[in-house]
Amino acid sequence: MRGNWVLRGAVAATLALSCTANAADAAKAASAGKSRSKQQLERGRYLVMIGGCNDCHTDGYAPSGGNVPERDWLLGSGPLGFRGPWGTTYAPNLRVTASTMTEVEWVKYAKSLKTRPPMPWFNVNAMTEADLRAMYRFIGSLGAVGRPAQAYVPPDKQPNPPYIQWPAPPKSQ
Ligand code: HEC
Repeated sequence: MRGNWVLRGAVAATLALSCTANAADAAKAASAGKSRSKQQLERGRYLVMIGGCNDCHTDGYAPSGGNVPERDWLLGSGPLGFRGPWGTTYAPNLRVTASTMTEVEWVKYAKSLKTRPPMPWFNVNAMTEADLRAMYRFIGSLGAVGRPAQAYVPPDKQPNPPYIQWPAPPKSQ
């Protein structure tokens, strides 16, 4: 009888130990996951900044020397249009764009993106999958999606001011 209790005690102790170990492992994994996703958000933020996305996709960003709080980032170019032989384009609200797709769809979309000027779509095409995923996560973390930017105006229509008039691109020889 006594031996049995000792044995049971030993089994219980082993079980308790392995439970503690599992809980510790789980906590470790969760915190590793948390810091990985935190790193991914930081990477996304960094890419948006040095990729210059705010320069056009955030109202007032470039003229204020980047002095726009993060809560207002990527909501679109506001009233400012980019007018050239392609018509007048407005940098869209990227929160709206990203919110219409999954992360995987965003990666595919960004890799094959092609737009009118002056959007540097070719730079976005060249980003790695990991970077595009980080950017998607960051855009998703910015908060309320807001409203879509102004609609494109074709070349034969006069846009409302303000707009930046771009010269025609040089003819390739
Ligand atoms: C020089 C200004 C400029 C910069 C810099 C810029 N964009 Fe754009 N972007 C635009 C304009 C203008 C459009 C709309 C083009 C059109 O109407 O065809 C656009 C369109 C887009 C679109 C298509 C969105 C949609 O809903 O149609 C995506 C995605 C995008 N930009 C992502 C980015 C990212 C990511 C960066 C940073 C790496 C960036 N852009 C930097 C001006 C810019």
